[in-house]
Amino acid sequence: MYNLLHELNVSLGDRSYPIMIGEGMLGAYDLSGYVGGSQVMIVTNDVVGPLYLEQARACFPGKSVDTVVLPDGEKHKDWQTLNLIFDALLEKRHTRKTTLVALGGGVVGDMTGFAAACYQRGVPFIQIPTTLLSQVDSSVGGKTGINHPLGKNMVGAFHQPEAVLIDTDTLQTLPPREVSAGLAEIIKYGLIRDKDFLGWLELVIDKLVTLDRKALAEAIFRSCACKADVVAQDERENGLRATLNLGHTFGHAIETYAGYGNWLHGEAVGTGMIMAADLSAREGSITQADYDRILRLVNRACLPDLPPADMTAADFMNLMAVDKKNVDGRLRLVLLRSVGDAVVTSDPSPENLAATLKSFCRHER
Ligand code: NAD
Ligand code: GLY
Repeated sequence: MYNLLHELNVSLGDRSYPIMIGEGMLGAYDLSGYVGGSQVMIVTNDVVGPLYLEQARACFPGKSVDTVVLPDGEKHKDWQTLNLIFDALLEKRHTRKTTLVALGGGVVGDMTGFAAACYQRGVPFIQIPTTLLSQVDSSVGGKTGINHPLGKNMVGAFHQPEAVLIDTDTLQTLPPREVSAGLAEIIKYGLIRDKDFLGWLELVIDKLVTLDRKALAEAIFRSCACKADVVAQDERENGLRATLNLGHTFGHAIETYAGYGNWLHGEAVGTGMIMAADLSAREGSITQADYDRILRLVNRACLPDLPPADMTAADFMNLMAVDKKNVDGRLRLVLLRSVGDAVVTSDPSPENLAATLKSFCRHER
């Protein structure tokens, strides 16, 4: 038996879809109603597959279920690995009525979604996220894609899933570093949109680090509600949605510099949020006490607060120059207007930006 704790809706007209959050969902919750045809292709990887593939198959009674197992890791979020999905679909003769299912973290989710956006010019897909980060962020909102050696997530498409099934039990097998990575994105929602949520996180962060089930389910629900609200208002990131990228411009630079997979995405976002908070303080929109509060919370989530030791300000500037938010060669950054409110800005003072980079790049202090 499963225990459905929360159900949310991502409101996008005829492309709206539900997010189901609960315990014991894998293997018990019937998803076949979200599958239009008779064929299903579950995409997973060689870490998640042995843990959850058989249970996931059981979510599609009456359907013909095939599976493809990808190599694990961010370093495989590329064309070569994407092709393994197309190979499997074509070898098993999947038609344009097929439904893809992403079973895994954000890497599997982003690649499966992109494969679904491209296969036979677009087929439906379902998200079954199994990491904290993917449950609170990447499975919702329809951003899909792969990395390019010159930049993160540079090749992709918007393609919304038919449904998102979150089984919080899967988090119990997640390594602690991955839990912290997910907490970075959860903290982000508090910082950009919800001061009360941030206050609640300060009370329960130790419980979240140690995988307390009740606290986790609440944090996932509130995070998904926040993301669903933003996506419903600005699906294609013409404005508001960009605020979900707090810390990501600095963070993507760190991830690319370190080599994909060496820093976890959430770890880089954690450090990036501290850097964005530092710059926001220099710009005068938050106080030093606000900055200290944010640093303390990120530290309590066991996230790093400094970039790689050998990374220079010039490395940051070069890597941030390819950020997707940039317009006409101008760097755009998400900064805090206050704690609980974010803004996308194209004009942080160059002196303040240089000062932030100098204070975080250990070579240059
Ligand atoms: P991930 O997918 O690499 O998963 C982390 C690790 O945990 C992997 O080794 C994975 O195999 C393993 N794993 C997954 N579930 C597990 C479980 N239940 N138990 C044990 N191990 C498990 O990383 P992630 O943090 O989930 O996702 C990061 C990716 O998501 C990045 O590529 C990032 O760009 C992307 N992302 C996308 C969006 C979006 O909107 N599409 C948003 C945020 C991040
Ligand atoms: N993770 C940022 C977004 O989905 O827009």
